Amino acid sequence: MSMSIPNDAILCKLADLAETGSRGFRVGGGDWPLKGFVLRVDDGSLRAWVNHCPHAGHPLELLPHRFLTADRKFIQCSSHGALFDPVSGSCVAGPCPGRKLRPLAVALQGDDIVLASSSVDVDNAPPRRAAESTQ
Ligand code: FES
Repeated sequence: MSMSIPNDAILCKLADLAETGSRGFRVGGGDWPLKGFVLRVDDGSLRAWVNHCPHAGHPLELLPHRFLTADRKFIQCSSHGALFDPVSGSCVAGPCPGRKLRPLAVALQGDDIVLASSSVDVDNAPPRRAAESTQ
């Protein structure tokens, strides 16, 4: 489903990534706002992903803004431990190998990290029930 997001919505400040290496955000109102997170990869560029694990549809983080492994090399799902490459979003270990996180386009405007598109193509529906998930 495609949802309309305010153009150039500010997600966070670049400095907000320092503490945990990543930062969660919520954009839009209603019952199902867009929930995602942003991080900076080794070459200094930004990546942002929808906060929805492709395994069972759970949010990835257990604690606020903690999406990365302790060494900050991978995105980790706190539910069943899937690991995702922070550059490609592909699952590299865990129960959903080869599946991917859904990317979001972001840009840096001054010190602000903003959504780079006003229309985001995401399935914004509630997570699937466990019986419907792919194991
Ligand atoms: S929901 Fe993420 S690994 Fe199971």
